[in-house]
Amino acid sequence: MTEQTHPRTYRVKSFGCQMNVYDGERMAELLAEKGITPAPEGEEADLVVLNTCHIREKAAEKVYSDIGRLVKAGRAAGKEPMIAVAGCVAQAEGEEIMARAPAVSMVVGPQAYHRLGDMIDKAVAGERATDTDMPKNAKFDVLPQRRKVGPSAFLTIQEGCDKFCTYCVVPYTRGAEISRPFSDLLREAETLVEAGAREITLLGQNVNAWTGTDDAGRAVGFDGLVKAIARLPELQRIRYTTSHPMDVTDGMIAMHGEVDKLMPYLHLPVQSGSDRVLKAMNRSHTAEGYLRLLERFRAVRPDIALSGDFIVGFPGETEAEFAETLALVDAVKYAAAFSFKYSPRPGTPAAAMDGQIAREVMEERLARLQDALNRDQLAFNQASVGKVCEVLVERRGKRPGQWLGKSPWLQSVFFESPAAIGDLVRVELVEAGPNSLAGRVL
Ligand code: 5AD
Ligand code: SF4
Repeated sequence: MTEQTHPRTYRVKSFGCQMNVYDGERMAELLAEKGITPAPEGEEADLVVLNTCHIREKAAEKVYSDIGRLVKAGRAAGKEPMIAVAGCVAQAEGEEIMARAPAVSMVVGPQAYHRLGDMIDKAVAGERATDTDMPKNAKFDVLPQRRKVGPSAFLTIQEGCDKFCTYCVVPYTRGAEISRPFSDLLREAETLVEAGAREITLLGQNVNAWTGTDDAGRAVGFDGLVKAIARLPELQRIRYTTSHPMDVTDGMIAMHGEVDKLMPYLHLPVQSGSDRVLKAMNRSHTAEGYLRLLERFRAVRPDIALSGDFIVGFPGETEAEFAETLALVDAVKYAAAFSFKYSPRPGTPAAAMDGQIAREVMEERLARLQDALNRDQLAFNQASVGKVCEVLVERRGKRPGQWLGKSPWLQSVFFESPAAIGDLVRVELVEAGPNSLAGRVL
């Protein structure tokens, strides 16, 4: 690699989950602190951070093609962009990336990106650097304060995973489960509200595994944290994602009936409706156990919108077992859901299991599952018509005079009365489509 000039502009491209979006925002704040500014729309940036996701499909191949595209676009614009690969592919395949892609100046894992500034200095001096250390919580102590955020902001409270579902790469890329300290989280939540947030979504791979101690040294569970954050006067709404059935506590269920600011929405992945498949996945819950949990949430918050994740075509999944997933979907009636074809992840136990399912079979099952999930999502939206609720205004819609916000149930709602971003407006939901609703401001 040749010596490079210090980058003046940056672009962070985040793929994958909401935690990557959060990490991407924090990297952008760090770059801004170093005096590097966001590249104007349509202009090649001096520094591009590819904040990658490794959870499914050909993640690494996509990174190499993105790198190729950046080099080509840079050349056309007469520059050699500085490229940083961050995120979970960086963690899993850092050395290979360095070996295969000479255009990459630095590889930085999800627990090390607070050192990005130093790595840029090294790159300017012509030195390539890889940092995939996993120091616990270190980045949170040194990242710059958050100054300006939108009305709906993310706050990572917990990272990593100890569950080791047999298909999943996360325990290897994000490391062991760690909880951020209670006082740090309250402080960051306060900063977010001062910076413009009206809604905070608490993030974690297993957000409800969070534990901590309060200022008096007493143990606090996830529900205690939610209640403490809800006490911030100017904060209007709290959400959280993603939860694991195994870490659901009585307190967590009860808080849905107690905390007004907590939105009636629960994302609780199930993955499969077959107990044999769940066991092979190492999910530690049965289909019946999962359904019973949902009933308890519904008992305290009858209007709660339920969402889940599904994998079809896990090794050995039979047609009858897949039918059990469809039956579970019919029983739950999800408001929203994410469903995926099983994708073997290198190094995970399931990748080496017998009975890998043919692509066509997976595609056919996924199509049937998504038909059912789409049907239920539309039905949920249609059942919302006539309800009066508050919508948090997030941005302008595509049409002139149109605004877009979120209902308490995380539905996108369009409306046409004048509003300002960050307002909570009272609307009647008047029309429903599969992915959004129309509202009339009252
Ligand atoms: N193949 C397909 N889907 C996966 N997920 C995680 N790992 C895999 C995999 N190897 C899905 C799960 C998880 C979501 C974030 O991604 O449904 O809940
Ligand atoms: Fe992956 Fe399972 Fe952990 Fe979720 S709980 S991050 S699916 S290992």
